[in-house]
Amino acid sequence: MQLHLSTWQEVETYLKRSTGIILPIGSTEQHGPNGLIGTDAICPEVVAKGLGEAADAMVAPTISVGIAQHHLGFSGSMCLRPSTLIAVMRDSVISLAKHGFDRFFFLNGHGGNIATIHAAFAEIYSDISLEAWDSKRPIRLTSRNWWDGKGVRELGKKLYGDDEGDHATCSEVSLTQYAYPESIKNVNFESRAPAYSGIYDADDYRRRYPDGRIGSLPSLSTPEHGRQFYETAVENLTVVYNDFLKEDR
Ligand code: NI
Repeated sequence: MQLHLSTWQEVETYLKRSTGIILPIGSTEQHGPNGLIGTDAICPEVVAKGLGEAADAMVAPTISVGIAQHHLGFSGSMCLRPSTLIAVMRDSVISLAKHGFDRFFFLNGHGGNIATIHAAFAEIYSDISLEAWDSKRPIRLTSRNWWDGKGVRELGKKLYGDDEGDHATCSEVSLTQYAYPESIKNVNFESRAPAYSGIYDADDYRRRYPDGRIGSLPSLSTPEHGRQFYETAVENLTVVYNDFLKEDR
């Protein structure tokens, strides 16, 4: 079930059988010459939708803009400050907790968000402990990256070897091609992008990685590969999500 496609009565009914919710969180940032700018939001959104169907779980609207300062040297990239993203996550959790949700499963699509997600969890738990707001039941927050699922990395290794890369990876580009075949860009790359060598800021990023990719060769991506990543991720995350709900209350 997707929250934005439900009525309030349907949400009320859902809450009688489950208090869990999946929250996709991503980024809006350049992904090289054939990667969509929405890649890091699209991937967790699509996997979350499948996970929601498999686990009969509610899926919140995607938090689509994240921590992407280092991509601002490329047109179209957008960024929230860490403090802003923490505020968005905090207010989202508090809103949903007010209705009775108490198991929050953030499904992340962007490595650059991880530190801030953990900081947001610390802020929210601090709010509760310091009694800035009163949660009637214990709140549990967790996060997974869509690619964490058992088998996803192995599949990337098998299909692409070292060409998978670190940014604008073959696997994430494949997943967006599966989700949005009408938006596939036909671009020929001559070679793998420069390997990761560090990043200071946006200008430095563009100097080191001129077309936006890091270490990848996503001309290898296909929608069929994307289907395999999707199915592997959903299958594994369904187990992880159900285990999370079963933890002690
Ligand atoms: Ni990405």
